[in-house]
Amino acid sequence: MSTAIDLTGKVAIVTGAGSGLGKGIALCLAKAGANVAIADVNVKDAQKTAKEIMALGRKSFAIKTDVTKENEVFAMVDEVVRKLGKLDIMCPNAGTCCAGPIDQLSAENWDKMMQINLYGHFYCVKAALKYMKPQKSGKIVMTASQAGRVAVPLLAGYSASKFAVTALTKAVAQEVAADNIQVNCIGPGIIRTKIWDKILGDLVKAGLGEADALYKSFLDSIPSGREQTPEDIGNAVTFLASNLASEITGDILIINGGQFNCP
Ligand SMILES: NC(=O)c1ccc[n+]([C@@H]2O[C@H](COP(=O)([O-])OP(=O)(O)OC[C@H]3O[C@@H](n4cnc5c(N)ncnc54)[C@H](O)[C@@H]3O)[C@@H](O)[C@H]2O)c1
Repeated sequence: MSTAIDLTGKVAIVTGAGSGLGKGIALCLAKAGANVAIADVNVKDAQKTAKEIMALGRKSFAIKTDVTKENEVFAMVDEVVRKLGKLDIMCPNAGTCCAGPIDQLSAENWDKMMQINLYGHFYCVKAALKYMKPQKSGKIVMTASQAGRVAVPLLAGYSASKFAVTALTKAVAQEVAADNIQVNCIGPGIIRTKIWDKILGDLVKAGLGEADALYKSFLDSIPSGREQTPEDIGNAVTFLASNLASEITGDILIINGGQFNCP
């Protein structure tokens, strides 16, 4: 067996791939040969990602999808299978974060994180299994976080949602292992995407400091000395989506330059 990663002919879906890590994941999968459908609530951004993927010579298209709506997620997956013929790789990734002290976190913001980060992943898993179980193959790679492995203060609701994604990964992996479906998640560290503008904005609003200084304090605890890039994250997902990872299932792959000495 070749040790090169080759996803030629595979069909993948990445949610939240209009920007940030999702876009990085989608581009890495496409560079490895996959055709990649781009699902995002922001369809304009999704179309831009799809265009970049088509420029690489792969098939791609954008689908407006709100991952908090089960019917929209199922319709999106049905459309991908109709247009691209099958589904090999599902990457639920869309997410959000509301930061700040727990006693200032509204139930509405708590619910928003659970809806997008957890229910969004749950619906994607169900919709993917509709096709992966009968075909007896598939790779599901969810986006958790290093905050799904170590609990991070001021991110209590976010951490809770990401620990839940890690648990979802581990449970489903055991349920579908005999169907030749591998289920893993990734634990990205710190990548300066739009989610960080939101986190820093929330922390500033809570009176906890100034945005640049707060961000620097997070970066200062990364032993490798740098923040991660969407490509660092996309490479990890591409490995987990490949046959090189065929006996890895139910695990979380942390990509964080050694931060928090994550267990
Ligand atoms: N950036 C980081 O440092 C970091 C670290 C660990 C984990 N993550 C996780 O990575 C994932 C992507 O985050 P990001 O940093 O790229 O942030 P981002 O804000 O750049 O991207 C999030 C994407 O999700 C989309 N989205 C939001 N709500 C949606 C919904 N209901 N339905 C469909 N799409 C929706 C947005 O339109 C956007 O394109 C999230 O799950 C996040 O928790 C990010």
